[in-house]
Amino acid sequence: MCDGEHRSPLAGLLENNRVWSETMQAEEPEFFRKLVDQQSPEYLWIGCADSRVPANEIVGLLPGELFVHRNVANVVVHTDTNCMSVLQYAVEVLKVKHIIVCGHYGCGGVRAAMGATPYGMIDNWLRHIKDVYFRHREALDPIGDERARVDRLCELNVVAQVYNVCYTTIVQNAWARGQELTVNGWVYGLQDGLVKDLKVSVSRPGQIPQVYRMDTTNGV
Ligand code: CO
Repeated sequence: MCDGEHRSPLAGLLENNRVWSETMQAEEPEFFRKLVDQQSPEYLWIGCADSRVPANEIVGLLPGELFVHRNVANVVVHTDTNCMSVLQYAVEVLKVKHIIVCGHYGCGGVRAAMGATPYGMIDNWLRHIKDVYFRHREALDPIGDERARVDRLCELNVVAQVYNVCYTTIVQNAWARGQELTVNGWVYGLQDGLVKDLKVSVSRPGQIPQVYRMDTTNGV
């Protein structure tokens, strides 16, 4: 390459990729070949799209070990065909044993949902989190420190989304079939890289409110 020749702004990424591929194959020559024909992850990760929360790295899992869905502020909406398709495939085809909803402290989406500043189209998406805020406003509003208030809503949002996962026909049908499936809620700390387990794991219909429970005795 001569001086001044145009270098793609993404050249560094492609070079990183080449080095990564070589390193992986040096460590385990059959690594990629084994992944070509199948994946059998035991976990579905539903996390925030935030660039500081890379799912696989946080939990030390390799390609093939974690099925991942990410969106702004890890929201699970029953009419979101994207999220529902990921969930259905993960549960019914891959038969993951655990679903992890992982939010993170200092989430910009959660902070925006707590405020009144308009950001455009995304405000409609974040409205789901504002609903969580509204439900818990009596507990949240007395928290004087803004960062602490946002962080608490980050936790409450994860809990709400854990239950939203459980309310889906997908998860309830899996339980009705006797499939082993637990939905967990975690929050990741940007400041120390550590995950906090919110201990809201749900693994059977008896743990969700009666109103949301489907009568699956006659099948669907
Ligand atoms: Co976020």
